[in-house]
Amino acid sequence: MSVIVVEGGHSLEGTIRVHGAKNAVLPILAATVLSGGKSDVENCPALRDVAATVRILEHLGCSVRREGATISVDSSAMQRSDIPECLMREMRSSVIFLGAILARFGTASVAMPGGCELGPRPIDLHLSAFAQMGVNIREAHGIIHCECPKLHGAAIHLAFPSVGATENVMLAASLAEGTTVITNAAKEPEIEDLQIYLNRMGARVQGAGSDTIRIDGVSRLYGAPHRVIPDRIVAATYMACSAVTGGTVELTDVCPKHLEAIMAVAREYGAELIVEENRIIHRAPQRLRAVKMIRTMPYPGFPTDAQAPMMAALCYADGTGIFTETIFENRFKHVTELTRMGADITVEGRIAVVRGVPQLGGANMCAMELRGGAALVVAALGAQGVSRIGRVHFIERGYENLTEALSGLGAKIRKETEDEQREKKTHIVCP
Ligand code: EPZ
Repeated sequence: MSVIVVEGGHSLEGTIRVHGAKNAVLPILAATVLSGGKSDVENCPALRDVAATVRILEHLGCSVRREGATISVDSSAMQRSDIPECLMREMRSSVIFLGAILARFGTASVAMPGGCELGPRPIDLHLSAFAQMGVNIREAHGIIHCECPKLHGAAIHLAFPSVGATENVMLAASLAEGTTVITNAAKEPEIEDLQIYLNRMGARVQGAGSDTIRIDGVSRLYGAPHRVIPDRIVAATYMACSAVTGGTVELTDVCPKHLEAIMAVAREYGAELIVEENRIIHRAPQRLRAVKMIRTMPYPGFPTDAQAPMMAALCYADGTGIFTETIFENRFKHVTELTRMGADITVEGRIAVVRGVPQLGGANMCAMELRGGAALVVAALGAQGVSRIGRVHFIERGYENLTEALSGLGAKIRKETEDEQREKKTHIVCP
């Protein structure tokens, strides 16, 4: 397994482009099966999760071609309606295909996605919404079988503004008979991006970005072109990297509107921000100020996916801050790894108290999940000495060429292959 090696203490200076949003690409690629036509999706980052989604499309019978950052999907020859366990286990968010396959074929079977590093990850909101749309759902031997010759619209109130459940209902309702109204819908920018793509395909969706989304079902959808929005979590992570190294970094191809909660935290820790239409210049203070309270919330609140990278930065702050993780029940796994570097963090349930220290020391660490792994890179960039981070595959799920991107800003960071580790006897033992 590769590791990431970081020599900390080098300030980051320069310009970095933010790649397309993983959490927009995944539902949009799932939506391509609705059309039976050809769609060119631009600005798709080269990520493990995107590759996993492409494997599912190919398993279903779609033909998929990537040319640079454009993924072309032709779903005309699609003939399967099942996603096997091996593909579901690779990426639990593949459950997003359920609504699209159901709408296309009236039948779908997917393996239970199971939990992940963040906790159980139930899909009860998805399934109860489908039941309201007329779907017969049967679970047997870990497989969810859904049958519904013709989906019909429904009034669906989500008990929690689940991103995935909102997207799944939008996909199913696009080809359902009648109108579906989702109340307490998730309002994330990725939902709005999905609405834009669906409407380009001929769907009739309105209200994405608000808590009420109306979908008037149509009889047929067509392939359409789309360019995916920038990844706001990657942008937040790059800001955290700038924050711990005291440098000035210009982020390009970003959407500042999606980053209001992140920028509020950056200003509170003392960054100077210059914000223009699609770029942000982040000038870090010499010493970060503590941010008293960060509570993760559904959009437009502070995003749970940015919690770990920002916590890593604030380990260096002058003062104490409190993080409350309200979205996932087990999203502090990065804390034990950060304490190996000398971070002073106390966790009690969903609350983490971070007492800033002036300096952290390089250490061997293991990524436990995607954003927690990115947090270890953030902390290592500001540390004294060399850090080595194992289980890089978690980080590669959501960050395209992270080591190359940060090296371009002056970071001393590289990937080390297994052979190099063997040669240098620098293996890291990860659980
Ligand atoms: C999406 O996951 C994102 N993934 C996650 O990003 C993100 O953290 C999350 O939304 C919240 O913003 C993708 O878009 C691919 P949810 P999703 O349904 O849809 C509970 C990353 O790092 N819930 O909004 O799975 C659930 O257990 C990833 O890029 C139910 O109880 O999130 C969780 O506690 C991680 N029942 C909460 O809601 C359900 O049926 C939020 O889940 C569905 C969800």
